[in-house]
Amino acid sequence: PRVAVVFGGRSSEHAVSCATAAGVLRAIDRDAYDVLPVGITRDGAWVLASDDPDRLALTPTQTPQVEDTGSEVVLPTRAGESTLSVHRTGEALETLGEVDVVFPLLHGPYGEDGTLQGMLELTDMRYVGSGVLASAAGMDKHYMKVVFAGAGLPVGPYTVITDRQWRRDKAAAMDAVESLHFPVFVKPCRAGSSMGVSKVERSDQLEGAIEAAREHDLKVIVEQGVSGREIECSVLEGRGLDAPRTSLPGEIVVESGRGHDFYDFEAKYLDDSSVRLSCPADLPQAEAAEVRRLAAAAFEALACEGPARVDCFVTDGGTVLINEINTMPGFTPTSMYPRMWAESGVSYPELVDELIQLALE
Ligand code: DAL
Ligand code: MG
Repeated sequence: PRVAVVFGGRSSEHAVSCATAAGVLRAIDRDAYDVLPVGITRDGAWVLASDDPDRLALTPTQTPQVEDTGSEVVLPTRAGESTLSVHRTGEALETLGEVDVVFPLLHGPYGEDGTLQGMLELTDMRYVGSGVLASAAGMDKHYMKVVFAGAGLPVGPYTVITDRQWRRDKAAAMDAVESLHFPVFVKPCRAGSSMGVSKVERSDQLEGAIEAAREHDLKVIVEQGVSGREIECSVLEGRGLDAPRTSLPGEIVVESGRGHDFYDFEAKYLDDSSVRLSCPADLPQAEAAEVRRLAAAAFEALACEGPARVDCFVTDGGTVLINEINTMPGFTPTSMYPRMWAESGVSYPELVDELIQLALE
């Protein structure tokens, strides 16, 4: 089958998407799949990209990005038509041929949020991962909690500050936050990789943190910090009528005293000394089972497809809360999502293959 691997994109997680693509392009079985690398530049241009994984890696000295090569990948505009074409500057149109499945390795808005999925639905293209609604709800840290709570799943205390509330009356918006206990985490509702996220210990830090989050999204969520452990679980849609599969849970251990007081962008992607991904997490069996049960339930509550990573807190008393779901989790070979699967017996190349097969099913 022919797979269009799509990466980069307009969100602030552009470089993370390139890093994810580097991992997948390295691991994909070239005998089984014909790979068409399609990059989306930061400005939103679709180009025929380089598929050299080395140039796409994210390191302390390299922030990868999709370069505008002057080519333009043209998507079909007719339902049932799956032939991609490419225009090159000053050259005649070249047909890239039919694509069997699109693998959107995109994180954040305009990729993970249902917009791209809607575009692919319009032309009946098959694609890896969640559909429009699950992607849109899974991108929004507010609506995902509304859905989880509606399905009877446990979420922690939070409050939302809309753009209108903030611009009408900042003081009232901040008063609403005072009903939570400090520390709180202030986050853009629709962003990822901890961009624009601050941990706030005191009220006088709140306004600055909200303004920082608003740089990424005008809708802001303030979550009460949970004292406990940060446990994640990988989920994979079941084959046929099977229930979703869950991995062994893993734990994010932030080493204190190394400049990161939470799992921020740098700790996630650049400074691997400050955070340890411990997998399988050393949890009592009942708690591990509860994390897996809730991860599968969260996946089903949103009607996800393909992959998802569910991030939970296990409180000091052993209660499990769902913090969030990511419908296109970070997917480099050292990312939590594939590492938890590797610990559970599914290797990185097998996982790539399984995700494509689920989309083709
Ligand atoms: N948003 C990043 C990629 C993650 O959830 O892993
Ligand atoms: Mg998370």
